[in-house]
Amino acid sequence: MFAEMNTICSRPKPFEFYTAEELWTNEHTAQKMLEYHLNEHIDLSSRNHDFINRSSQWITDYCDLGPGKSVIDFGCGPGLYTYLFAKSGADVTGVDFSQNSLAYAENRANENDLNISYFHSNYLDFDTNKKFDLITMIMCDFCVLSPEQRSIMLKKFNKLLKDDGKLILDFYSHNAFEKREEAQSYERNWMDYFWTAEENFVFLNTFKYESDNVTLDKYTVVTESDSFTIYNWLQYFAVDSLRELFDEHGLTVSELYSDVAGTEFAADSDEMALVAGKK
Ligand SMILES: C[S@@+](CC[C@H](N)C(=O)[O-])C[C@H]1O[C@@H](n2cnc3c(N)ncnc32)[C@H](O)[C@@H]1O
Repeated sequence: MFAEMNTICSRPKPFEFYTAEELWTNEHTAQKMLEYHLNEHIDLSSRNHDFINRSSQWITDYCDLGPGKSVIDFGCGPGLYTYLFAKSGADVTGVDFSQNSLAYAENRANENDLNISYFHSNYLDFDTNKKFDLITMIMCDFCVLSPEQRSIMLKKFNKLLKDDGKLILDFYSHNAFEKREEAQSYERNWMDYFWTAEENFVFLNTFKYESDNVTLDKYTVVTESDSFTIYNWLQYFAVDSLRELFDEHGLTVSELYSDVAGTEFAADSDEMALVAGKK
């Protein structure tokens, strides 16, 4: 028991383990995630639907989406954005590794006769010869990636973007990092059996890596027959470091906002969004 508690409380190196696939594609959690995506009132898995409507409208207007324009959305989930982008008449592609979410997205696109191609793939491995007018990755998914994975995605964005194309992404800021604190807790059947259908105990250890601007929510889930650990990493960014990172990958940040709905940039915002293009 002491040794097990020691393991539960142990602090890994930043981004030492990547468990996003287990989190999003496990049959039980994928179904829970889809319920959160589709709950229009909450900001879990996807943001609330009022925000998504405003955001997709802003992006559609900003990028003048319509027939002849092509869009790719990485980590599209159940296609809440891709659906709205496609309503403009644009040719839309969505990439996600959750088959559960994609099945919902595909049905909705077919029922509404929309021009959307969905790819069931880890976006780190995804490739195509097509070039796009707009690339999106929404709800700060870039922040869960390790430095190496970020680099893979930025190279991919550069390759897939048309010369005059736009890239729109959002991020957590240093301001959000300041608000995070280290903590340990445990709970029985956390969030109404989020992790497993059977009885479970969930240990949540939150670690803060001050010099890296990284946090980890480490969930250790224990059932009668099994135990597993999920690592939710978040990198928090400063504007200057983002500009540098994009620059190193041949991309120029042209505009900053507080969110992907075009809210004016505020230095004290917990989130920020950027528009970038090829250098
Ligand atoms: C926070 S959700 C955001 C979904 C969508 N962008 C939205 O805002 O409604 C992150 C999505 O990215 C997907 N995802 C996470 N890591 C991925 C990866 N490496 N490859 C493909 N999809 C991934 C998840 O399955 C999930 O649908």
